[in-house]
Amino acid sequence: MNHVSSTEQIVYLNGHFMPMADSTISTQDRGFLFGDGVYEVIPVYNRQLFSFKEHLQRLKNSLNAVQIQNPLSDSEWLTLLNTLIEKHPWKDQYIYLQVTRGVQIQRDHLPAEDLTPTIYAYTNPLKPVASHILENGIKVITLEDIRWLRCDIKAITLLPNVMMKLAAKAQGADDAILVSREGLITEGTASNAFMVKDGTIFTPPNSNKLLPGITRQVIERIAKAHGIPLIEQDITEAMLNKADEIWLSSSTKEALPVTTLNNQPVGTGKPSIIWQKINRFYHQYKQDFIQNNVIP
Ligand code: PDD
Repeated sequence: MNHVSSTEQIVYLNGHFMPMADSTISTQDRGFLFGDGVYEVIPVYNRQLFSFKEHLQRLKNSLNAVQIQNPLSDSEWLTLLNTLIEKHPWKDQYIYLQVTRGVQIQRDHLPAEDLTPTIYAYTNPLKPVASHILENGIKVITLEDIRWLRCDIKAITLLPNVMMKLAAKAQGADDAILVSREGLITEGTASNAFMVKDGTIFTPPNSNKLLPGITRQVIERIAKAHGIPLIEQDITEAMLNKADEIWLSSSTKEALPVTTLNNQPVGTGKPSIIWQKINRFYHQYKQDFIQNNVIP
């Protein structure tokens, strides 16, 4: 079963599981009025949360950075998410969870001190990336990164990301790689960025300009384990233009090959050797995780 309707799909909202169709929030929720909240997207393989510790830690970092009290303990988060998984039939899922600062009747930029955070979580079937995409890669353009200076926070306020995604689509591309005002590559609109030159993988170091991606962290671990050189280093647009390979990474797409950059082929114009290796090792890593039933 791949599709369930909103009356069948069960979501979690503020302490209760309920059909999605019945889940409503106040118009005065600060998430709705100000985009005042943070979120996570967590993949589930074979009904087990993947990299849960890392996602939970990033959620806590985001909450801390925006001064929203973490409303649940680690074990309460785990129970909530596992219960949500159990209520759905799919082996592989991805969970969206969001915490906003809560409902404040009088709209005010300054948050009231006694607010109760709104907690929302739901799950979707996680489908593998289509084989024609893995065989051919995607088309990307570079765009000026128009976001703020706290992209390390996984904030629900995604208007610039939406605008850049629309701009990419208007130019016939699948996505965009973002370039900071200093001329450095930051990341994709909803992914981290990598390039390969002469057998070495490069990715920009973590900073306030990009999200510390969990998939990126897994790729780094895999590259290290298999002796593939990977360097965290600033990447200029000029370097990107000369790359042998470019990839994007995220929890829902894993490592995704980019084969066209600004209408020019990347390297051979096909997903290439280092990506193929990393992709294979990534699947092995997932398989080990599934079989050992441990959270890596
Ligand atoms: N986005 N950078 C940005 C801006 C992102 O939105 C994401 C993920 C990533 C990759 O992070 P991770 O590997 O932890 O998924 C990097 C999720 C999938 C989303 O918004 O749907």
